[in-house]
Amino acid sequence: MAIKIEDATIRLLDKLYEIEKQCFTQEAFTKQHLAYLLTDYNTIGLVARVNDEIAGFILAQIDVERNLLFGHILTLNVEPTYRRKGIAQRLLAGIESMLREKGVKECRLEVREDNVAALNLYRKLGYKVVGKLEKYYGEAHGLYLRKILS
Ligand SMILES: CC(C)(COP(=O)(O)OP(=O)(O)OC[C@H]1O[C@@H](n2cnc3c(N)ncnc32)[C@H](O)[C@@H]1OP(=O)(O)O)[C@@H](O)C(=O)NCCC(=O)NCCS
Repeated sequence: MAIKIEDATIRLLDKLYEIEKQCFTQEAFTKQHLAYLLTDYNTIGLVARVNDEIAGFILAQIDVERNLLFGHILTLNVEPTYRRKGIAQRLLAGIESMLREKGVKECRLEVREDNVAALNLYRKLGYKVVGKLEKYYGEAHGLYLRKILS
């Protein structure tokens, strides 16, 4: 299966929103917010294409804190039929490379405490849990993870 990684653009909004809704129920971004992110100067994104179909995407924001740049993963989704084929790994590695090229030294993200698939993925790629976010997702707790981009 050939996976192609490309830049995410506003032209893909409908498809990306469809995937976002499939992957998240309560926490899905609205279409308007997704449109804003896809055109925001501080947001970068990648899509994975398999046989010309968009199979997943990732968006990350670049934040500045005390003159240092931080990457923040905003969303990462892979369509259910394309899961467990290494697509999320490719997207995450790709966005980390883009962040490094922009001088970002650290990448952060939040994840639901009960999201085993995502937690395994992030741990596999070197992310460490650095905090707990009480009731971050309604009644569900979140975890705060980070990775130093070397
Ligand atoms: C989490 C998600 C992005 C993973 O996408 P994916 O393309 O299937 O992941 P990959 O195939 O790249 O898997 C990489 C690693 O993640 C872990 N992993 C992925 N899915 C898993 C699952 N269902 N159960 C346990 N571990 C899993 C494994 O360690 C896997 O490595 P392995 O296949 O060698 O065991 C996908 O399940 C998804 O879109 N979920 C809904 C949205 C979501 O939760 N996004 C993350 C929000 S923070």
